[in-house]
Amino acid sequence: MYIDTHCHLSREDYDDIDKVIEENKEAGVDKIVVSGCSRESIEEVISLKDKYDMVYVTIGYHPDNADIATKDDLDYLKSLLSEKKIIGIGEIGLDYYYTKENRDKQIWLFESQLKIAESFNLPVVIHSRDATMDTINILKKYKVKGIIHCFSGSLETANIYIKMGFLLGIGGVVTFKNSKLKDVVKEIPLSSIVLETDSPYLTPVPYRGKVNSSKYLEYTAKFISMIKNISVLELAEITSKNASSLFDFNR
Ligand code: NI
Repeated sequence: MYIDTHCHLSREDYDDIDKVIEENKEAGVDKIVVSGCSRESIEEVISLKDKYDMVYVTIGYHPDNADIATKDDLDYLKSLLSEKKIIGIGEIGLDYYYTKENRDKQIWLFESQLKIAESFNLPVVIHSRDATMDTINILKKYKVKGIIHCFSGSLETANIYIKMGFLLGIGGVVTFKNSKLKDVVKEIPLSSIVLETDSPYLTPVPYRGKVNSSKYLEYTAKFISMIKNISVLELAEITSKNASSLFDFNR
């Protein structure tokens, strides 16, 4: 019923991945899109997609890698893209929260991967933190579609992304007491929303603070369905349809 459009699944965070996968199924999750966003995690997620039916992957270098990523890393990325169940590039983007000093390098890495996504005709999963204007201006230069992962911006920003054809990934943050995201979600069309956990991070209420997992997606889904005044089944159906229209799960 549910599709988790963005999560991380690493042995570093979970002792027993078999168990995580079983619990996901029991919680009504059909598919999870696991992001490998460094050289090491790319290798790890590829082994997971081969092992578990429900696992699909996106691969790409997170802006954290801006200082170390090389042309060789980009070639490695390209060399993997014809593999089965690799359904997108990400998470890629810009993150000025910790530092803006390497802005040029971040932009180089981001644009290099947008070019790859464009030429392989693959959707992108975008990470943007404290970098909204640069992200929008750069995305406008490329013919790509995708998800703004962990969207938590203003309604104005949401509308810009929606107009550009992007989907907004809504996760556990929407359930947080002080988050203004619920007011934004109320106003945006259901056709632009996909669900995500970003696990192991950003666990929804009532499990906030615990290690997140796709099995908790239902709490975010229930919360959004209440905001939107529809049943959780309808919400699951619409958001899964949105995800399936972006990602080619038959790859
Ligand atoms: Ni993430």
